[in-house]
Amino acid sequence: MSAFQTAIVPAAGLGTRFLPTTKAVPKELLPVVDTPGIELVATEAAEAGATKLVIVTSPGKDAVAEYFRPQPELEATLEERGKADLLAKVRRAPNLLTVETAIQDKALGLGHAVACAEGNLTGADDAVAVLLPDDLVLPTGVLSKMAAVREKLGGSVLCAFDIPKEQISAYGVFDVKDTGDDDVKQVVGMVEKPKPEDAPSTFAAAGRYLLDRSIFDALKRITPGAGGELQLTDAIALLINEGHPVHVVVHRGGRHDLGNPGGFLKAAVDFALEHPDYGPELGEWLRARLAGS
Ligand code: UTP
Repeated sequence: MSAFQTAIVPAAGLGTRFLPTTKAVPKELLPVVDTPGIELVATEAAEAGATKLVIVTSPGKDAVAEYFRPQPELEATLEERGKADLLAKVRRAPNLLTVETAIQDKALGLGHAVACAEGNLTGADDAVAVLLPDDLVLPTGVLSKMAAVREKLGGSVLCAFDIPKEQISAYGVFDVKDTGDDDVKQVVGMVEKPKPEDAPSTFAAAGRYLLDRSIFDALKRITPGAGGELQLTDAIALLINEGHPVHVVVHRGGRHDLGNPGGFLKAAVDFALEHPDYGPELGEWLRARLAGS
């Protein structure tokens, strides 16, 4: 049995960095080659043992949940035409896990979005995973390591990247203590976007969280923080101050930020270069393009 059954994916933000596209298309559905980012993240959650995905969405963003519903007419057409490969792709997302939605009426912050999913939990949910669909953490598997740390040390477990000090100001940074395991640190505090000289460590927060259910109580007790929004990190800081164990798993891998066009393009190129159908030609074109021909 996994340390969690439910994964929450907050997808109710405004997506302003992707305007004008996000006037009509949720950024979570933009394709990384041919697959929306939210399917990649749902696959990661399912691989780590989640059986239920709660997508927090806003009133105009039904298409995100719709993407996970079966499409019997399309499936029948593809079957008639003998398109087995396409049929498998179409069926992939609906078969991953059970998908439910929670509505966040107004984008009041990530903490508020997570709190909106509380009504979707059952008595069996002692902990929940939260995955930000903007953040691709590669290779996948860090959630399983985080679950193992919760089993051993209890409490909540977050994911961190070791970032060069000169780049640290772009991130939420953990203040940590060693645990004897180089890849697991105890969190004693967090600082948002510090100057390099003020940063308490080089461990930066990534968009993967395994949160003890007590986070929902903490979310009710915080007040709006940076940007007037209810911040998830403020609720985590409250739990740390109250002596609740919080650890990070340091992920030694790569990541892509799908939340802005520059990061999204890098992810698309990275995935396309690995794709047997598109990789060789794209690589050739890129080389020629960069050589100026
Ligand atoms: P971001 O800040 O990256 O997303 O939030 P955003 O607000 O949609 O993007 P910009 O800054 O306007 O371009 C991280 C994740 O949290 C969700 C977002 O949908 C995104 O997946 N989120 C954020 C919510 O669900 N609700 C909120 O109130 C804020």
